[in-house]
Amino acid sequence: MSKQFAVIGNPIEHSRSPELHHAFAKKTGIDLNYSRRLAPLDGFESSVHEFFSQNGVGINVTVPFKEQAFAMCTQLTERAKIAKAVNTLWMENGELHGDNTDGQGLVDAIKALDWDLKDADLLIIGAGGATRGVIYPLVKAGVKKIVIANRTLARAEQLVADLADSVPEAQLMACSLTALQGQFDLVINATSASLSGDALILPETLTFNHAYEMAYGKASSFIEQAKARQVPSSEGFGMLVGQAIEAFYIWNGVRPNLKDFL
Ligand code: ATR
Repeated sequence: MSKQFAVIGNPIEHSRSPELHHAFAKKTGIDLNYSRRLAPLDGFESSVHEFFSQNGVGINVTVPFKEQAFAMCTQLTERAKIAKAVNTLWMENGELHGDNTDGQGLVDAIKALDWDLKDADLLIIGAGGATRGVIYPLVKAGVKKIVIANRTLARAEQLVADLADSVPEAQLMACSLTALQGQFDLVINATSASLSGDALILPETLTFNHAYEMAYGKASSFIEQAKARQVPSSEGFGMLVGQAIEAFYIWNGVRPNLKDFL
């Protein structure tokens, strides 16, 4: 029988994970079935237990359950502990294990673009869960200085205070979106602005060489501004593929090549 996998979220119809994992399986010769599962907003934990009790091998977790998944695990990877969110679950020796592959997915997507991360001056806009999840993998990839700019300055300051000890080799700084200025090698948009259809206005005093939008699938005013400035830009598909490859690797021990699926 095929190995069983699923992605659980609410809503879930939009998820491209089944399509990606089936493509990886075809490429690597692994026999698996990967389905979408809608969990009721108050029924995530029982959906997870049910799936594993039916011999399911691995679960991807998406909005809005990543924090709940984190709280359920008895074994967590370092990057999941720092992210305080889990997108990849599996059972081992009777224990629920959790990892967060989003940040590594972003790092791999940026590397696949041949944009240099080592010693890059990096700006991340947004200070929510999406930002929290990517800081540690970015620092492990060689980034030494990260400015976190947020509409609500206090949230950026809190995130910097929370994460500073986890990444002592890097300098983290908080800034308000309106006070933003200077030159950066790379700007990453980790806000949910495009998902809610809001414009994100970048100050003229800000200049940058590369732009990455983490949200995939919606028109992004951030990307439009990057294009208007003729700055190379990318929207989150590479990250989506990257996080899926990392989960596939955890579960199946084989790492498909990201560039084959872009
Ligand atoms: P996620 O888990 O996706 O990061 P979140 O925790 O709700 O979601 O955080 C959303 C982020 O997008 C926040 O940094 C938010 O800024 P505030 O902290 O000031 O709310 C940011 N954001 C959302 N809409 C925005 C907009 N229109 N302009 C600027 N920032 C926006």
